[in-house]
Parts: sequence; C-alpha cells; structure tokens
Amino acid sequence: MAYEMEKEILQQPEVLQNLINQYITPENNISFKLPEGIKKLKFIASGSSYHCSGMVAKIFREFANIKASYEYASEFYIAKNIFIDQNTLYIFISQSGETFDTVEALKRVKAKGGQTLCITNCIDSSLWNLCDYKILSDAGEEKSIASTKALTAQLFCLYLLMLEFLKTKGHNITTEINEIKQLPNFIDKFLKNIEQIKVAADKLSKAQNAIIIGSKYYYSIAKEGALKIKETSYLDANAYPQGEFLHGHVAVLNNKPVLIAIVVEDTKESMELILSKIFEDYTPELITISNEDSINSKAMNIKIDTKNNIFNVFATVITFQVLAFETATKLGRNVDKPLGLKKIVK
Ligand code: BG6
Repeated sequence: MAYEMEKEILQQPEVLQNLINQYITPENNISFKLPEGIKKLKFIASGSSYHCSGMVAKIFREFANIKASYEYASEFYIAKNIFIDQNTLYIFISQSGETFDTVEALKRVKAKGGQTLCITNCIDSSLWNLCDYKILSDAGEEKSIASTKALTAQLFCLYLLMLEFLKTKGHNITTEINEIKQLPNFIDKFLKNIEQIKVAADKLSKAQNAIIIGSKYYYSIAKEGALKIKETSYLDANAYPQGEFLHGHVAVLNNKPVLIAIVVEDTKESMELILSKIFEDYTPELITISNEDSINSKAMNIKIDTKNNIFNVFATVITFQVLAFETATKLGRNVDKPLGLKKIVK
C-alpha cells in the first residue's frame, strides 16, 4: 500500500523548486512584502510548526544576528499579560492556518496593535485573513497527519525571509540565493539514498523508546524528530539539548532506549565529550546523524553528504521524516492516520 506520507516526503524537491520559482525573481530578488523598521522577531506556533519556529529563531540569531524568540501559541495566548513591542514582527506559522491556539494568540497580538505576519499553507484561512503580512508556503494539500512537505516549505520560506532581512541590513545575499537554488536537487539525491536510514529504522522498531540529542537549531530538529516518531509509531521518543541531557536526564538510558545523536561541525567536540561520558556508565544502542563518515566507533552512522549548513538542516529534518515513516511501517501502523490524531486540511 502506498502511503500519503511517503508520497509527500518524496514530493519535497518539487515543492521547494516551486517555491524558488515563485519567490526568487530572475534577478535573484526575493518577492516578499515586508514591513519596515523591524528590529526583533517573535515566532508563535503549535506542534511541528512550533518546532519550525525554534529552528528558525535560532538560525536568525546565528546567521543573521537578528533578535528572534519563539513560544508555544497555547502558552502565549493563555498568559495573563503579554507585552507587545512596535519594533517586533510577530510571525505566526501554521500549516492549516486554523489551529485554535495559534489563531487565539494572533488575536491577542492584534488586539494590542502588534505587527503580524503569517506563513501558512492555506490561503483564505483565519491566519491568512487576519495577518497584516502573509506568505503562502504553498506545499499543496498535505493528507498525511504527520507534517512533512508543509514543514519543509515553511522552513524554506523562513530561510528566504532571513535572507531578505539580511539584504535590508545591507548584506549581499547573491551567494546564498545561488546556493539555495541547488537545494531541490540536493534533496532529490538525498532521498534516493536512504539505505542507512532504513537500517536505523530497523533498530528503532525493535526498541521501546528513543532519545534524540542535538544542540542549537538541531535541538529543535531533534524535538521535531521525536514528535514525528511519536505521531507515527507511538514509540516514546524524547529530545534533549545535548549538554543538558547529562544533568539527570541521562538516567533514562537505564530503560535501554536507542540513542540518536545529531553531530555537526561546530557542536562536534562537545558531542564527542558527551558521548564519551555517557559510555562511561551506559551502553546504549547509538545512531549518529552526521555529515562525516564515522563519529563514534560504537555508532551506526547516517551520513548527510554536505558541508552546507542550511542543506544539512533540511536533510536532517528529512532524515527524521524517513526514519519515522520506515519505523512506523515496520511496526504495522497506519502511518497516514495515527490513532487518536486529527488534522485540519483546507
Ligand atoms: C496539531 C497536530 O494538532 O497541530 C500537529 O497534531 C500539528 O501535527 C499542529 O503540527 C499544528 O498544526 P498547524 O496546522 O497549525 O501547523
């Protein structure tokens, strides 16, 4: 049986190419309409879209030196006091544009006069109609409950948004634009070489639970990976910031989960140290996701063959989509319609 989730994972190169055609002009300009004078960004969202916010807020801070924070929509709208700043752009991210918590949070910001922008897959949704500025993530209808192509489309639009902010600050973004145009091709090749991910899925399907560790925006990717695994296979998967994991949380390794470590260049040294400390007391089954051949002699490594930071981000997100899909199908789950989950699709 062909699952929608698998089809939607495989559609990602096409979705990204469509966004390039739509939003990058032949002169290499980005055709977003944005407000002027913005100094800070606040991302507000739920579920996978929230994890996308986390990735992107940290990417904005790291690569563009722009103040960016993020919050769960449900926590934001329920707070007694919210503080609205006129120099902040409030960015609402939602596949459906209809998630109750996200729409309520938007209404609170609007009531206090904050400037708002949405990134959504659904034109004419509540978010679309209420926000001052809007970007269509245009991934096409997503039938599978677990979000795949809608999330990478959001991520892509937000990366373009970051480039546009950099441009307004006087940066020349030609190199980045030319690079990002190669992303669909890279993802296409990546999706044709997923044998290692299938081996990892075999290990995961035999375990009761999984722990994923990573740092910075890779920690948000780890959280999204854990959500994807939970949603589709019902395994208990949890993510931790790699350093924080040692502070007590590490005791969960007594339950013998599979440990998945996301290793990238600038956090590699710290991860190596953390793994060596872990192996002093525990012997977890270890899977690494890395752009190097081998990270740890005890690990099964999933290699992402790129040195480009942004390509690596997309490929790591997609690695978890494939891992979740393969694990869930091995366990015989109905991947497209997990028990007890619903999705708003317009
Ligand atoms: C939840 C879904 O209810 O809503 C998640 O279970 C989803 O899969 C979340 O990510 C947010 O949805 P949206 O449409 O606002 O991106």
